[in-house]
Amino acid sequence: MSNTRRNFLKQIGASAGMSALYMSGTSTAGLAAQDVRAMAAGAQGSMHDNEAFWDRIRNEFIIEDKLIMMNAANMTPSPKVVHETVIDHTRDMDMNCSFQNRGKYGDLTTKAREFIAGFLGADTDEIGFVRNTSEANNTVINGLDLGAGDEVLIWDQNHPCNNIAWHQRAERLGFTVVTVSTDETLNTIDDLLRPFKEAINSNTKILAFSHVSNVTGTALPGKEMTQLAHANGAKCLVDGAQTFGYMDIDLHDMGCDFYTSSGQKWILGPREASFVYVKREAQAELWPNIVTVGWARNKANGAQKYESLGQRDDGRLWALGRAVEFHQMIGQDRIEARINYLASVLRANMVTNIPNIKVLTEQAEGFNSGIFVGLIPNTDAPRAARTIYDQHRISGAIGGREDVLRVRLCPHIYNSVEQMGQIADYIKASI
Ligand SMILES: Cc1ncc(COP(=O)(O)O)c(C=O)c1O
Repeated sequence: MSNTRRNFLKQIGASAGMSALYMSGTSTAGLAAQDVRAMAAGAQGSMHDNEAFWDRIRNEFIIEDKLIMMNAANMTPSPKVVHETVIDHTRDMDMNCSFQNRGKYGDLTTKAREFIAGFLGADTDEIGFVRNTSEANNTVINGLDLGAGDEVLIWDQNHPCNNIAWHQRAERLGFTVVTVSTDETLNTIDDLLRPFKEAINSNTKILAFSHVSNVTGTALPGKEMTQLAHANGAKCLVDGAQTFGYMDIDLHDMGCDFYTSSGQKWILGPREASFVYVKREAQAELWPNIVTVGWARNKANGAQKYESLGQRDDGRLWALGRAVEFHQMIGQDRIEARINYLASVLRANMVTNIPNIKVLTEQAEGFNSGIFVGLIPNTDAPRAARTIYDQHRISGAIGGREDVLRVRLCPHIYNSVEQMGQIADYIKASI
């Protein structure tokens, strides 16, 4: 991230911190989080293996005792400062939902938009609030003018909302969906790009892919993929469900036309509060899906034309802003380094403890992520999955129908390095 951007973020954090409006609806959690800001500001370097530092951060969460949450690719717990913002604003609304009391959301929503745009290297008029990645992807898929003769190029590891959703739309509009796979063993960026390069052509209108796959944890290079799309006259949709809050993202540098994400995953935000990024130059070509009250204002405000939803839970949008701020307090670079460190310790322990595990997550540095996926053969998968949760209290995406247990485990900043050892031991004992 550039120094200019970092300074800007610091400034908005500092000025916001002083304003009474910003503090409205926050309680002791907000003040406790200020200690995190001070601790992180005084720390040096990535702190990725400094357990005392991360123990203090873990205190900001209220995760049940003994529960090992390892499901960040699906859903994360929020830190106190975020969930208390949701609770405080819900209470405030139930005490007084007059137009007058709701007036503050104009400013709070603006501030949340500024936080998100600054955090991601975007402009505020390129951020439209939606509920999650499913809605954001469908905003793009349903909003483009495509027809017979046009092609959409997707990755076979895409999530259904960026995969089945394209096929569904193609049935109605008559365009073609082309799906490519990547090799299981990758060593260079070229290995990853090759199948896309081979499939893209002058009919391709959109290249749509998961920035990090929820299926294997493999990361695609967003900037190179975008350059490939643009060199062929296509637009680029980057599904950032697995990267917003996990990695440092600079959308203007990446250059993509659309970026989508969810609040309840790596950013540690509230459920059902997120955004769609639509690059300014792409807005003229993307129709809105929903038009309702407030349209006259929204249509004149860039990507706000994609966020019409009638009456909505505005406090949640502000809570998403606070989740971004929580990340900024700690430092996104540090968060990514910590997640990668925990994932690498987990991988080493799993491979040592369970030698017959087939690791699906790409091993080459730069292509893997905080998502670890492995297949464990020769086990009663349903029974093992039950034991892992019921007895050992490990929450991940763990299952399987017959004798192959599939485990997807995703650590985050609320996990300890000790847990990475326990998980491998407990899973070994359960299979
Ligand atoms: C890559 C990817 N895209 C989209 C989604 C859908 O996210 P949500 O359920 O928050 O809409 C997921 C969920 O796991 C995902 O992994």
